[in-house]
Amino acid sequence: MKVLGIETSCDETGIAVYDTVKGLLAHTLYSQIELHAEYGGVVPELASRDHIRRVTPLIDEVLQQSGCQKSDIEGIAYTAGPGLMGALMVGAAIGRTLAWTWNIPSIGVNHMEGHLLAPMLDSKQPSFPFLALLVSGGHSLIVDVKQVGDYEIIGESLDDAVGEAFDKTAKLLDLGYPGGPVISKLAETGDASAYKFPRPMTNRPGLDMSFSGLKTFVLNTWQDSDKSDTAKANIAAAFQEAIVDTLLIKCKRAIKQTSYPQLVMAGGVSANKQLREKLAEYSQANNLELFYPKTQFCTDNGAMIAYAGALRLMAGERDDSSFQVRPRWAISELNKIKV
Ligand code: KG4
Ligand code: ZN
Repeated sequence: MKVLGIETSCDETGIAVYDTVKGLLAHTLYSQIELHAEYGGVVPELASRDHIRRVTPLIDEVLQQSGCQKSDIEGIAYTAGPGLMGALMVGAAIGRTLAWTWNIPSIGVNHMEGHLLAPMLDSKQPSFPFLALLVSGGHSLIVDVKQVGDYEIIGESLDDAVGEAFDKTAKLLDLGYPGGPVISKLAETGDASAYKFPRPMTNRPGLDMSFSGLKTFVLNTWQDSDKSDTAKANIAAAFQEAIVDTLLIKCKRAIKQTSYPQLVMAGGVSANKQLREKLAEYSQANNLELFYPKTQFCTDNGAMIAYAGALRLMAGERDDSSFQVRPRWAISELNKIKV
C-alpha cells in the first residue's frame, strides 16, 4: 500500500510517500524556523498560514520524487494531534479533501506515535515489547511499548518538556531558536564542570521528570556570572549535561523496572549527540540494544506520519465522517492494532 503522509502539527511542513512493500519512497520538509526566529518561538497563526502555502506544492514535489502518480496513492495519513490547533487543521483539511477527491481512505495519526515508530523506518528495527524515551519540544515520556498502539506511559515530565527546556534556556541566553541544536553546539566549546547543575527529581524514586527548575538555575547562574562568552558556553555545557544525566538515570530505572533488553529513543531531542553517546555507552555496558531514528527523522517529518498511518490503514483503520483534530491527545489513548 502506498501512503501519502502529511505533517503540519507545529513549524515544519513534512510530506512523504511510504510504500508498505518497498519502504520510504520520498520525503521532503519545509522548516519555518526563519519565520519564527525573530520571535524566539513558534507563532501559531504564522505557522498555520505558512502550512497553507507549502502543503500542496510539497505534495507535488514528493509525488514526482517518488515516481508515483496521484492514482498510485492508496491512502492518506495526516497528523491529527497533538499540536497547534490551526496548524493541525491545515494538514487535516488538505489530507481529508484529497482522500475524498481521490476516493481513498484517510487516517488521522497521533504525532507522538509517529515519533515513537520513526526508528522503524530503518532496516534494523526493534521488536516488541521495548522501552521508549520520547523527548520532543512538547513531550518527555518514558513509555512501555507493548505493541503498536499499546503504550503505557510509565514516566513523564510534570512541567516543561526537555526540548522546551532547551528552547527556553536558549532564549534566556539570547542564543536563538530552536534551542536544542544551538545549545548543543555551544556546549561543545564549554566546560560542564565549571558549574554544578541539579539533576531534578533523581533523588526520589519513580520515573517522572521536571525540567522547569533548570531554566531558573540557568538564569541565576548567568546573572551571577561575568557574562562572558566563556561563561555562556560553560552554562550551555553544564545545562546539557544535567539534562542528559537526568534522562540517563530515569532510563536506567525504567530498564530495571521493565527488564526490557531494547531501548528506543525518538523525538527532536533524540538528535542530541551527547544524549546518544551516553545512552549508547550505557546500552553497550549493559547488553541492551539501542535504537534511534536517522537524525532527519528525529525532528518533525512526514515520513514518520506516512509510516504510522500506513500501519493503521493496513490494519483497517479509517477516518469516520466526523472532522476533528486533537491539540491534546495522549499516546496512551490509542487503539492497539495487529501488525
Ligand atoms: O520532535 P520535534 O521536532 O517537535 C515536537 O514534536 O516538539 O522536537 C523539537 C524539539 C525542539 O525543542 C528542539 O530544541 C529540540 O527538539 N532539539 C534538540 C536538538 N535538535 C532538536 N534538543 C537537543 N539537542 C538537539 N540536537
Ligand atoms: Zn514532533
